[in-house]
Amino acid sequence: MEQRTSWRDRTVLDLGCGTGFHLPRFAEAAARVVGVEPHPALQRLAGRRTRRLPNVSVLLGTAQEVPLPDSSVDVVHARWAYFFGPGCEPGLAELERVVRRGGTALVIDNDGSRSTFGAWFRRGYPPPRPP
Ligand SMILES: C[S@@+](CC[C@H](N)C(=O)[O-])C[C@H]1O[C@@H](n2cnc3c(N)ncnc32)[C@H](O)[C@@H]1O
Repeated sequence: MEQRTSWRDRTVLDLGCGTGFHLPRFAEAAARVVGVEPHPALQRLAGRRTRRLPNVSVLLGTAQEVPLPDSSVDVVHARWAYFFGPGCEPGLAELERVVRRGGTALVIDNDGSRSTFGAWFRRGYPPPRPP
């Protein structure tokens, strides 16, 4: 991700942040980090994980309705967050709204067709759609 963009001294949005695993790492360099998570229990866990990090906040929300103002984010990180795929257009429209001009959206998904993780995934789920 660092080869694509820098988040140093910028505002990062982690969309679908889950338990907030990635938030502390972003917080080391970013000016501000906002986690958005629709599941209340996960949002609470993410808040607990980051409670001592003054530049991190964790909000309840979805990709389709991001609780942030227009043009307020420099870098979005959406890792294996389930709103992509068919029907994801409202989430993409929200990305366009909240990201400042020149910002970057990093959308990361797992490739279910290879790797150790892919083998586990294929055993448990129907064949994944091509990326
Ligand atoms: C596999 S977890 C990944 C969590 C986190 N991104 C990570 O990498 O640790 C998928 C996450 O996507 C969130 N999610 C599902 N639908 C979403 C939506 N419409 N908008 C935002 N997040 C969503 C889930 O609540 C869950 O926290």
